[in-house]
Amino acid sequence: MPTPLKDIVGSEGMELAGRKIALCVTGSVAAIHSPTIARELMRHGADVHVVMSPAAQRLVRPELFEWATGNPVVTELTGRSEHILLAGEWEGKADLVLVAPCTANTVGKLANGVDDTPVTTVLSCALGNSIPIIIAPAMHEPMARNPFVVTSLERLKKHGVEIVEPRIEEGKAKIADVEQIVDAVIKRLGKRDLKGLNVLVTGGPTIEPIDPVRIISNRSSGKMGLALAVEASRRGADVTLVMGPGKVNPPEWMNVIKAGSTEEMAKAVQKCLKNSKIDVAILAAAPADYAPAAKAEQKISSRSKPSLTLTLKATPKIVNSIKKLSPKTFLVAFKAEHGLTTKELINRANALMREARADMVAANMTGEGTAFGGEDNEIYLLSKGKKVTHIPRASKREVAAKLLDAVSAEMKGRT
Ligand SMILES: Cc1cc2nc3c(=O)[nH]c(=O)nc-3n(C[C@H](O)[C@H](O)[C@H](O)COP(=O)(O)O)c2cc1C
Repeated sequence: MPTPLKDIVGSEGMELAGRKIALCVTGSVAAIHSPTIARELMRHGADVHVVMSPAAQRLVRPELFEWATGNPVVTELTGRSEHILLAGEWEGKADLVLVAPCTANTVGKLANGVDDTPVTTVLSCALGNSIPIIIAPAMHEPMARNPFVVTSLERLKKHGVEIVEPRIEEGKAKIADVEQIVDAVIKRLGKRDLKGLNVLVTGGPTIEPIDPVRIISNRSSGKMGLALAVEASRRGADVTLVMGPGKVNPPEWMNVIKAGSTEEMAKAVQKCLKNSKIDVAILAAAPADYAPAAKAEQKISSRSKPSLTLTLKATPKIVNSIKKLSPKTFLVAFKAEHGLTTKELINRANALMREARADMVAANMTGEGTAFGGEDNEIYLLSKGKKVTHIPRASKREVAAKLLDAVSAEMKGRT
């Protein structure tokens, strides 16, 4: 259940949707601006995790950041290895580390490989792990003129650390404006190549009732659909996710239409196509292909029926309705198969492409940890008139990014 403290997430934009940002706060009076920076990043879709140096904790209480971000605050390093969780080599690491404000002390330590606070240890890992770092220095002007601070900043720049320059005012190098800092983060992380596009994504399985308690469904989790919806939002698209009852919870800010059965999903998709101009439809859901011809009104008693024969009827093919309702929509269909050779898989994907008049087909094979229910996917991407592109096995988030790169390239060609 999403925390009410995060109800502002995405209220001003989705540029940082799906992005995890480690906001490091050090011992400068400018730390009074850090909760505002955290909230602004969240308003643009980010998930913000605050790390505080001991000096910062003397100026601002961690509780304020816990409230501001809805996440626990790192005030010390423990056996949980908070620095690894935020900046180690694993999928859950932060996408960017922002130090705002950054003291002269922390500038010097980072430039010299010193790590003796939670902040400098996170930074040390991030620098060694190629995680983007942005710092917003704040200090008295004489400290900013200190030649060692100056050379440390130069050194950091050479190593790819981005500096949001302070404003010199009233004898101080004051931290840059909140807006400037948030813009720097968005510019660094936000690829905006899908801005202005309305994208419809379907995800998850559908369920078909046999009786009031039993259903027919499949192993789809909704992870691929969700990864595509998050990535498309992050890249600036206006996304609607039509979601079957999978195993994932879409974030609160996402425009989600829930669908139970295949018929409900078909109706939801058709309504979207009728009500708004959908530029791209990506059908990553795995709707149940068959439904019981009749649903029993009462629970079927297994005692009275030692064996049961169900008559199934085919459900509507959602993918075939897209081009009929909206011929200009760029249609990406998904084809999932099991136990075929790559050639057979591609042949079937080609047949689907013709039948649905799809512009692209993402063909995937269900197997150990891939496609249905798995964390990873591997795709053969068919585009009209082009060679098949292989997207090798990777996390669904990475595969979604590559698939959207291909969609983005096609959409550019259209305008
Ligand atoms: C009230 C107060 C305000 C401070 N403001 C700043 C500042 O704006 N910039 C700075 O570099 N140091 C400032 N300092 C000094 C730092 O807190 C000190 O150098 C500390 O060791 C920084 O540790 P840290 O970088 O781990 O947070 C301030 C200290 C105090 C007590």
